Amino acid sequence: MAHLLSTTCSLDVSSSKKLHFKSINQCSTPNPTCFNMGISFSPLKLSLQSKRSAKYVIRASAVSMSQEARTQNDSGSQQTTDGASTRKKVMVIGGDGYCGWATALHLSNKGYEVAIVDNLIRRLFDDQLGLDSLTPISSIHNRIRRWKSLTGKDIQLFVGDICEFEFLAEAFKSFEPDAVVHFGEQRSAPYSMIDRSRAIYTQHNNVIGTLNVLFAIKEFREECHLVKLGTMGEYGTPNIDIEEGYITITHNGRTDTLPYPKQASSFYHLSKVHDSHNIAFTCKAWGIRATDLNQGVVYGVRTDETAIHEDLVNRLDYDGVFGTALNRFCVQAAVGHPLTVYGKGGQTRGYLDIRDTVQCVEIAIANPAKPGEFRVFNQFTEQFSVNELAALVTKAGQKLGLEVKAISVPNPRVEAEEHYYNAKHTKLIELGLQPHLLSDSLLDSLLNFAVQYKDRVDTKQIMPSVSWKKIGAKPKTVAA
Ligand SMILES: NC(=O)c1ccc[n+]([C@@H]2O[C@H](COP(=O)([O-])OP(=O)(O)OC[C@H]3O[C@@H](n4cnc5c(N)ncnc54)[C@H](O)[C@@H]3O)[C@@H](O)[C@H]2O)c1
Repeated sequence: MAHLLSTTCSLDVSSSKKLHFKSINQCSTPNPTCFNMGISFSPLKLSLQSKRSAKYVIRASAVSMSQEARTQNDSGSQQTTDGASTRKKVMVIGGDGYCGWATALHLSNKGYEVAIVDNLIRRLFDDQLGLDSLTPISSIHNRIRRWKSLTGKDIQLFVGDICEFEFLAEAFKSFEPDAVVHFGEQRSAPYSMIDRSRAIYTQHNNVIGTLNVLFAIKEFREECHLVKLGTMGEYGTPNIDIEEGYITITHNGRTDTLPYPKQASSFYHLSKVHDSHNIAFTCKAWGIRATDLNQGVVYGVRTDETAIHEDLVNRLDYDGVFGTALNRFCVQAAVGHPLTVYGKGGQTRGYLDIRDTVQCVEIAIANPAKPGEFRVFNQFTEQFSVNELAALVTKAGQKLGLEVKAISVPNPRVEAEEHYYNAKHTKLIELGLQPHLLSDSLLDSLLNFAVQYKDRVDTKQIMPSVSWKKIGAKPKTVAA
């Protein structure tokens, strides 16, 4: 029996406009479920009450413009057929999240007209699981108002779920994007492995959301370029070099260039593989133009834009569900917790600085795929094993006077702990990416950042709490 709870809220945005949204908490079981000692519910759906697009749009009122923030440049401009210059419109789906917020500000600063689409579900996951960002993050409404007050630049906001096609269609018709950057997915492998309901939620949210974006482009903006965030995790760890999306194979005397084999290792990673297949198919069938950015693990928190004001600060996850390797190690070092190396620590992956995430997306938008082209870029700058990262953090921590040691903890995942790994990543470099490499100074600054906020760390959230082998059909309960 479904359990329904609905709330209607309204927020004053300006004298003339109000944002209305309705939240519906729809549980698949009659009772609330619990995870990790925090009360948790089945995923909450946020949807807009009104279908009229004007109500979806927030425009913060203009205040003054800080000199510091004025790094105006015109890379967001495009020429119309009559030679006039207009600003390229970019819809950032998932623009309230870790990569999306930094990217939305970066593109806005570069002169693009930006709209954020987000259902704010990531904030709800934290509430459900009793987690929090290391950094105190402001509401999306405050973030956008502060950006406007500092720079004079508008970012439009559409609060809603892209799995609801009517909402997405209204957002498309209202904003008319030239490019869509799609970050709006459930992106944690451990979250997708908690139980049956989270596995199903992850695959439904990610696959149906992406499918809706593809249909919206086909219906309303055929020329729009889709820039979709995939993950290097789609490839797994094959015993041969990983190419950028495609591999040329000779088999029984015949040769073809085929999509590179995918060997995903969680229900989350599998959702991304399915996204890639759907996108590739619609490029062929409908002539959609798309770039799949197979991103590595992102680290860091500051970008030029998020550093301007505390209301613009980005989230930094360090917990066992949403935290990613290097960010987690830096926070562990800051609070004197041993670095948690999973198993043998030979797991090798591609990594990149969040400043390069925003740069890569900008490069992809500025150099769009051709109609019908399904382009794949491997988006990372360096590869490291977990043991190498632990050694780098230990060394950098010692320089700051921190006592850092690494321990091996039982690996909650099912993955190779020692393996060959050599992934190509030349296409974004060829288009002009200038990587920020993981130098000692960067580690120092990431570590310093973690030290600055260490009083906010809940050390109970550090150890991994989700096992790939013990995944349950039933939601976890307090007693379980
Ligand atoms: N963070 C990394 O290290 C990393 C690495 C590789 C790939 N990626 C990919 O980059 C993308 C962004 O990752 P992130 O770390 O910023 O994640 P995040 O969870 O911080 O942000 C995702 C945002 O999307 C929103 N969202 C989710 N489902 C939605 C829906 N149905 N409708 C509207 N909004 C929705 C969330 O509320 C959130 O704000 C993801 O697709 C992820 O798979 C991230």
